[in-house]
Amino acid sequence: MNSPIIIPLDLEYDEAIKLAELFDPKSCRLKVGSQLFTSSGPRVIKDLQSLGFDIFLDLKFHDIPNTVSQAVKVAADLGVWMVNVHVSGGSSMLESARKALNSCRNPPLLIGVTMLTSLSNEDVKEIGIPDISEKVMQLALLAKSNGLDGIVCSPREVKVIKELCGKEFIAVTPGIRTKKMNDDQSRVSSPKEAINNGSDFLVIGRPIIESSNPLKSLNQILDDIEL
Ligand code: C5P
Repeated sequence: MNSPIIIPLDLEYDEAIKLAELFDPKSCRLKVGSQLFTSSGPRVIKDLQSLGFDIFLDLKFHDIPNTVSQAVKVAADLGVWMVNVHVSGGSSMLESARKALNSCRNPPLLIGVTMLTSLSNEDVKEIGIPDISEKVMQLALLAKSNGLDGIVCSPREVKVIKELCGKEFIAVTPGIRTKKMNDDQSRVSSPKEAINNGSDFLVIGRPIIESSNPLKSLNQILDDIEL
């Protein structure tokens, strides 16, 4: 099975390993983000890889071109499957990251973050962006024109992005909810809606990792999307 589910291990080292050991690497990939990477460093990536998992290193690099290109190269040396940068870092940064990875033997997929799925249209007005959907489309096109493999966006935005950037352009979608949760995500959809909209990978965190039975919750989601 080529599962589209990515589970973010937004936990500390011991809990993350314990949780990973519940899953089959054929049923999901794992995401290491700022919390786990800051507390555990590269060893957690090695340890999760030795359990057989593909790793998405979600550190959302956003810096000057030289720094970002060195950072993605180090990520490639760790053997991760996917890495990401903020598209709003601009063309030179995106191009440098692309070039740096092109020179690697086993480059990870290079994905651009458009607008965080926690942000609503109201939130972005505060930072001078009049319309979130337009901004996401603009950033998706910028990512595509600089050779990125795809973007992170809300599942609600995937349809239009695929029309603009093509079917092959990868859409990674957090903001997935199996039921209503009062939390920080705002542009959300159900797993089924995300798949129907054309999402390639669904990042599903709290609905699985905070469940009393994470494996059962993952299996229910896989059933729901008919995998
Ligand atoms: O728990 P939840 O399902 O909200 O987890 C979503 C995960 O996706 C978190 O690890 C978060 O850091 C990540 N993410 C996101 N929005 C983005 C990029 C990544 O929520 N645009």
